[in-house]
Order: sequence, then structure tokens, then C-alpha cells
Amino acid sequence: MAQAGSKHLKVRKAALADAARIAALAGQLSYPSTAEEVERRLRDLPQDGSHAVFVAEDGAGRVVGWAHAYVHHFVGSDLRAEVAGLVVDETCRDTGVGKVLMARVEEWAREKGLAAVTLRSNVIRDAAHKFYEKLGYTRIKTQHAFRKVL
Ligand SMILES: CC(C)(COP(=O)(O)OP(=O)(O)OC[C@H]1O[C@@H](n2cnc3c(N)ncnc32)[C@H](O)[C@@H]1OP(=O)(O)O)[C@@H](O)C(=O)NCCC(=O)NCCS
Repeated sequence: MAQAGSKHLKVRKAALADAARIAALAGQLSYPSTAEEVERRLRDLPQDGSHAVFVAEDGAGRVVGWAHAYVHHFVGSDLRAEVAGLVVDETCRDTGVGKVLMARVEEWAREKGLAAVTLRSNVIRDAAHKFYEKLGYTRIKTQHAFRKVL
């Protein structure tokens, strides 16, 4: 069992060397990815401060969760931070890791002068919805997601 618990946690910006752990955790989020894919995606992120990927390390230095947030641009509304993804290792859930990661995302958003943090969560993720509500997030609408493969 990893040594989680928020008192042992360190949250820092992700590095390319975290790619394998980020990929393993992405699989737990139902976004199966290889370390090479994650490394390429990290490299491809805009380097203008509009994206932030944070990882949480347990007391043993093992990455046990990550959050990716970005500045959401839309001509129809003011800038806000959007959480693109958040996952905590299934062996460490309910020990405060997700809360610490979301606090770091909110701090990042405040530092950027953004007035809100938004996120979208699949309707099947009941546990995550309870978690977000516990953190003060409120449901603003329900959507369908569409895709056309090109
Ligand atoms: C959702 C997720 C990120 C939450 O992270 P976590 O580390 O397990 O949550 P925390 O331990 O930080 O919980 C923070 C608070 O939310 C509460 N909480 C967490 N899960 C809960 C649940 N299922 N029901 C009720 N409360 C819950 C905790 O009790 C805690 O409350 P407290 O502050 O009073 O102690 C994690 O469970 C996860 O990775 N789930 C799978 C992937 C996923 O669904 N990601 C979100 C995609 S949108």
C-alpha cells in the first residue's frame, strides 16, 4: 500500500519523467495510454502557462495522482480554468489526495486571475460527483458529448 494521506503528500508540476506513472493512472481513468504517448502529449502542451499538469507524490516519492488544468478560451464567456482530467491511484483513494490536487488547481487558477474552475464528469462517475460536491462544486448542466472521426 502506498503511503498516501495528505500529510505525506507533495504536489508539484509534472515532469517528463512522470510519464509512465501518469500513463498508468490514465488507464485507471479509462484513458489507456502508454508512457510514450503521455510523454509526447506533455511535450506538445503549449508552454505559455495556459496548461498545468500537477502530480501528487506520496511519502515514498511515488506519484499517486495527477490533475491537468488549462485556461479555457471561448468567445462566448470570460476565461476560466477547466480541469481536463483528475485521477488518484485506486490504492490511495479517500485519503485526501484528490482534494490536495484540486486545491493546487484552484490556487493556480487564482494566481492567473481566473474567476472560476469548471470541469466535466461522465454521468457514470457517481463517486467523483460526490467528491466534487464535497469540494464546493455545483452541477450547472448535463450535456451529451459528440464525436465524428475524421
Ligand atoms: C474522484 C477522485 C479523484 C477523488 O479523489 P480522492 O483522493 O479519492 O478524494 P479525497 O480523499 O481527496 O476526498 C476529498 C473529500 O471528498 C469526499 N469524498 C471522496 N469520494 C467520495 C464519495 N464517493 N462519496 C462521498 N464523499 C466522497 C471525502 O470523504 C473527502 O471529504 P473530507 O474533505 O470531508 O474528508 C478519485 O476517487 C478518483 O480518482 N476516482 C476515479 C477517477 C475519476 O472519477 N476521476 C474524476 C473524473 S471527472
